[in-house]
Amino acid sequence: MTKMIAAFCFLVLFGLSINADIQADKLFDLLKAKQSRNPPVRDTWLVSEDANDEYSPVYVGPQEGLAQLDKISTLPGQPEGVDFDQYSGYVTVNQSAGRALFYYFVESPTDPSTKPLVLWLNGGPACSSMIGAMTELGPFRINSDGKTLFRNNYAWNNVANILFLESPAGVGFSYSNTSSDYDYAGDKNTAADAYIFIVNWLQRFPQYKTRDFYITGESYAGHYVPQLAYTILRNNKNTNQTAINMKGIAIGNAWIDDETCRKGMFDHWWTHAIISDATHDAVFKYCNFVNDSLTGICNQSKTKAYEEMGNIDIYNLYAPICLNPDLKNASGSTGSIDVFDPCWQSILISYLNDPAVQKAFHVKPTSWDVCSYVFKRWHDGADTILPIIKYLIANGQRVWVYRQALNAKITFQNGDTDGRVPVTSSRYSINALNLPIETSWRPWYLNKEVGGYLEAYKGLLLITVRGAGHTVPSYQPQRALTLFSSFLGGILPPSS
Ligand SMILES: *[C@@H]1O[C@H](CO)[C@@H](O)[C@H](O)[C@H]1NC(C)=O
Ligand SMILES: *[C@@H]1O[C@H](CO)[C@@H](O)[C@H](O)[C@H]1NC(C)=O
Ligand SMILES: *[C@@H]1O[C@H](CO)[C@@H](O)[C@H](O)[C@H]1NC(C)=O
Ligand SMILES: *[C@@H]1O[C@H](CO)[C@@H](O)[C@H](O)[C@H]1NC(C)=O
Ligand SMILES: *[C@@H]1O[C@H](CO)[C@@H](O)[C@H](O)[C@H]1NC(C)=O
Ligand SMILES: *[C@@H]1O[C@H](CO)[C@@H](O)[C@H](O)[C@H]1NC(C)=O
Repeated sequence: MTKMIAAFCFLVLFGLSINADIQADKLFDLLKAKQSRNPPVRDTWLVSEDANDEYSPVYVGPQEGLAQLDKISTLPGQPEGVDFDQYSGYVTVNQSAGRALFYYFVESPTDPSTKPLVLWLNGGPACSSMIGAMTELGPFRINSDGKTLFRNNYAWNNVANILFLESPAGVGFSYSNTSSDYDYAGDKNTAADAYIFIVNWLQRFPQYKTRDFYITGESYAGHYVPQLAYTILRNNKNTNQTAINMKGIAIGNAWIDDETCRKGMFDHWWTHAIISDATHDAVFKYCNFVNDSLTGICNQSKTKAYEEMGNIDIYNLYAPICLNPDLKNASGSTGSIDVFDPCWQSILISYLNDPAVQKAFHVKPTSWDVCSYVFKRWHDGADTILPIIKYLIANGQRVWVYRQALNAKITFQNGDTDGRVPVTSSRYSINALNLPIETSWRPWYLNKEVGGYLEAYKGLLLITVRGAGHTVPSYQPQRALTLFSSFLGGILPPSS
């Protein structure tokens, strides 16, 4: 259990440095904001086993003919030979407030009608799923000129129809005409609106209504994905409005439990020789990781830890940093899927703010950004998602948890072989998920190389991708696609 919880939380390693993934920065802001509330407030997400709680049918707007209007003819700068259909536009989720969510949908080039439907969500909170679409698993990547696209041969729409949703309203192209809606953005409203979105979207694309449906995402989507899956399962039970054929979830570098993830963060720093033994010990002695305030010895010890590690960027020990965000004048040159441009943020911002691109995506002129700053604070962010994960497993959902793995520290994940880790193991003991192991820790292979490691629990698979950064498909697209196909097939990737 210990290693599983620790593995959920890996992203915090990247939470502090300036070049770190912006989704992790957003998460760190949220954690600090939570800690500074006095008295400490713990947000909860109630999991109800009762099959008959209240349900009122959700808003469904007229959808007829809209799919055809949403069809993208071509995206500016797209390469020749695009052999799949793409759609994008808004779906109204609340008519009186004037609230609408933006989606980008890419069908599979081969036999889309036999392939599952997969929803992808990026995290933050408040970061756009166009990160996933254009820099991770989508069919195109943007060249360093910020204008032209090249094909991602390892795009996930090779094996599924992929729906990217910008959520909640206020993020990316998604918006509300009632600005006070932004004061109530939090886990609960995000899940509620995403559910209304799906019900309406399936009305717009009725051929997908009975299709196998999966939800995937990364980072703070470790909240969004299980919460939405839970909402769907609850509503499937309680209504005959739309039964969504929910089959499973896959979450990457997911933040799912505040307490154990915070502990894991200081342990990671310690096992990576970034902070001293004394400071590590002090943090564990004086902090309880549940309701620590920003004053007192706990706070001093944490501050010491930050000082000790200095302005390092662990993330960029493994990848080059963006030294010059200016766009390259690269007309005619074509990017490579094997080289991930560290300046992806400015490239993405440039492409998605091009008026021709916004027109092609069927959005009104918008100043698009990677993450949103319209929310004064995140209204509610559940402390822990473990009870929801438990509910999903109990209700027959396939649950895969994947994460990047760097190189040397696999032994840490393997727990007890690292002499220092057991010291803290007992402190982690969370009995919320007490899952028996079905396949014990082993490597998985792609092209004769270790692609990563996995361990299968009853109902849940923990799997790592070797050599990946926080956004796994950006850095290891081929391994990520193998992982994703295995997930959809419900099989473990090859053991040799
Ligand atoms: C629409 O959103 C508003 C908040 O802007 C809320 O008060 C109202 O209940 C919502 N309507 C429905 C039908 O959910
Ligand atoms: C928001 O307001 C604009 C301008 O009145 C309108 O065109 C648009 O349809 C509204 N959005 C929604 C989702 O109702
Ligand atoms: C289910 O459908 C029936 C008839 O179509 C309707 O009378 C009933 O109210 C519906 N139940 C719910 C919970 O929506
Ligand atoms: C903080 O957490 C500790 C340990 O869980 C608990 O004993 C204490 O009562 C909590 N304090 C507040 C103010 O919630
Ligand atoms: C708490 O930590 C913050 C930095 O995280 C620091 O600025 C502040 O002075 C600390 N407070 C105390 C009482 O140590
Ligand atoms: C790119 O090159 C063109 C002409 O070759 C020039 O007009 C333009 O200013 C250059 N753009 C940048 C960003 O250097």
